[in-house]
Amino acid sequence: MKGYLKIFTYGCQMNDLDSQKLYSVLYDRGWIPTTSTSKADLIIINTCSVRQKAYEKAMSNIGRLRKNKLAKPDLVIGITGCAAEQEGYRLIERFPHVDFVQGTHRLHAIPDTVDNIVLQGKTHLVETGFNQYIPSMDIVPSPGFMQPKHRAYINIMQGCNNYCSYCIVPFVRGPEISRDYKSILEEIRLHASRGVKEIFLLGQNVNSYRGGITFHELLGMINEVNGIERIRFTTSHPKDMSDDLIESFAKLNKLCPHVHLPFQSGSNRVLKYMNRHYTAEHYLGLIEKLRAKRKDIALSSDVIVGFPMEREDDFQKTLDLVQKVRFDMLFSFKYSPRPGTSASRMPDHVPIEEKKRRLSVLQRIQRKITKENLETWVGKVVEVLVDGTSKRDKSQVFGRIGQNVIVNFPGSPELIGRTINVLVTRANPNTLTGEIV
Ligand code: SAH
Ligand code: SF4
Ligand code: F3S
Repeated sequence: MKGYLKIFTYGCQMNDLDSQKLYSVLYDRGWIPTTSTSKADLIIINTCSVRQKAYEKAMSNIGRLRKNKLAKPDLVIGITGCAAEQEGYRLIERFPHVDFVQGTHRLHAIPDTVDNIVLQGKTHLVETGFNQYIPSMDIVPSPGFMQPKHRAYINIMQGCNNYCSYCIVPFVRGPEISRDYKSILEEIRLHASRGVKEIFLLGQNVNSYRGGITFHELLGMINEVNGIERIRFTTSHPKDMSDDLIESFAKLNKLCPHVHLPFQSGSNRVLKYMNRHYTAEHYLGLIEKLRAKRKDIALSSDVIVGFPMEREDDFQKTLDLVQKVRFDMLFSFKYSPRPGTSASRMPDHVPIEEKKRRLSVLQRIQRKITKENLETWVGKVVEVLVDGTSKRDKSQVFGRIGQNVIVNFPGSPELIGRTINVLVTRANPNTLTGEIV
């Protein structure tokens, strides 16, 4: 054993998966996971920089670790993820107690970096920049580090070529790179042989997957893998959502009836400034087609309020779209300028108070829609894949239905990983409550 390891993870599912991989490869080199920060001999902060708030959170955590380093000079501290890629050496300048910074294409190199520090006493190692092949995409996390064990997150592509004007992702994850489909299928078959039930495909922009076959072809092949019961994916871009992909929701029995399709704004004027390459009408057309193919499909989305130059009438169009579609779940954000993006240089930024007001108006409307949609489940029997025991009440378990809604019900931990029929008895603000039938 080399010592104890703790990883702090910020950001999206891609970062969660990267952390699962890091735990796996570092465990193989003798690092034992711990939840205790003071006990840890190696601390990694896997950062996000998509919005100012996520970035600041990671930075203040790094700052707090200075006193851990003072108390324990052998402690190794590393920064990975999107802020590591974005800032590189600047992080060492700002936080001299940090030993290494490894960018988003350098995940595979971290065990060697840590060895160089621990065995040879090196420090302040920084590596960023993009390559044509990302070795860490092929790393398979060990079952012990998968959360929950019956769901495998699979990285099928990384990076983005879309350059939405507000977004930092293309700068921190690099250009789109797809993983070869043979490697993906091999990983999925391995997971299936170990009892995995659900496959969750990840990419910043899965519709432009080009790893030897198209995305809908890949879905078709995964649908044939024995033992796999459910397939999910995120994220899609409305400009690239093909008819073939929409058709997959009718054709593939394992593909869950849920799409996360960010619309960002209901105003064509704002969509243009955002560089999104579609109109609100096109978006509504896609929703109509999806619902025509699969009546019970659940829809979730992302939206930004207070984009530069967004006027009251633009904001009203966003509200109109939300009321027309009636999303099951909506993730709404106040625009925050990100360094290097073209939107950060646009004129007429909306004052923070106005952004807050728009966000709260939007969220009030969506809360009501979410609740009304959830109420339609009451009295129905649904199939729940059980994910774990409830944090608050150990006599309860929770899981998800195909539409991605969380259901809590009384049950024992033996149910975890199994698909159970549950009668829905109550709708809560964001989840459902039920009982086994
Ligand atoms: N690759 C995904 C997710 C990108 S980040 C996609 O293309 O949809 C997730 C969400 O964060 C985005 O959909 C957007 O709504 C929000 N977001 C991104 N940059 C932002 C910014 N600068 N300010 C506020 N929200 C932002
Ligand atoms: Fe960012 Fe747009 Fe790419 Fe999504 S599609 S990651 S929002 S640039
Ligand atoms: Fe954040 Fe990077 Fe994901 S910026 S949202 S961790 S791709």
